Amino acid sequence: PLVVAVIPAAGIGNRMQADRPKQYLSLAGKTILEHTVELLLSHPKIHSIVIAISAKDTYIHSLSIATHEKVTLVEGGAERADSVLSALSKVPKECWALVHDAARPCVAINDIDNLLSVMRDESVAGGILATPVRDTMKRASSKSDQPLISYTESREALWHALTPQLFPSTLLINALNRALQDGANVTDEASAIEHVGGKVALISGNPANIKITHPADLPLAEFYLQQRDK
Ligand code: C5P
Repeated sequence: PLVVAVIPAAGIGNRMQADRPKQYLSLAGKTILEHTVELLLSHPKIHSIVIAISAKDTYIHSLSIATHEKVTLVEGGAERADSVLSALSKVPKECWALVHDAARPCVAINDIDNLLSVMRDESVAGGILATPVRDTMKRASSKSDQPLISYTESREALWHALTPQLFPSTLLINALNRALQDGANVTDEASAIEHVGGKVALISGNPANIKITHPADLPLAEFYLQQRDK
């Protein structure tokens, strides 16, 4: 089946405390978004890319990726899920959608290969890259100025959800619409699929595939890119 990449890149990224949306910050000589898009364009199984951009975005048109023949730009929405739905409207019905955060430039080709193998597994609806939790995980008690530990979660069964996340595009559109309608907590694509009862495979990915969120993540990402591309 055809695989189309979807990149939600319509966020503000205010935790970065930067003068521009984080995907336009520079990393080893080009923007974070260019690193992400160029890596996906270099994958032989990825047919094309749809990027959701904010209506207020003044940066995208200065980048050559904006006019690449395999790239389509769409206007994003208020929440990540709205941006993904907007991009999915441009993805052909019979395709698989590989949704990947703009802010994860350090993803490796072989992690994408491992994820793509879920398309052959008929026992699951799709899959996501994930890494097992390393720290001891605490559940906090009800919100107050001073959070208190309610109890310790067993970390055996806890994973960090990364991207890419891979699902048939029509299934994902239906699941996202339903989850939003029901007011479910939809912070990634898998959560919408779970909401409609779909089974999602956890594919163990490289922990270097970080989501750039805080200023300190920039030098870390630069290091991971160097290691990956060596
Ligand atoms: O804010 P956070 O890091 O969780 O955002 C994850 C990804 O979702 C980013 O690439 C961001 O640009 C994107 N996003 C979006 N539309 C929104 C909010 C976030 O495309 N309304």
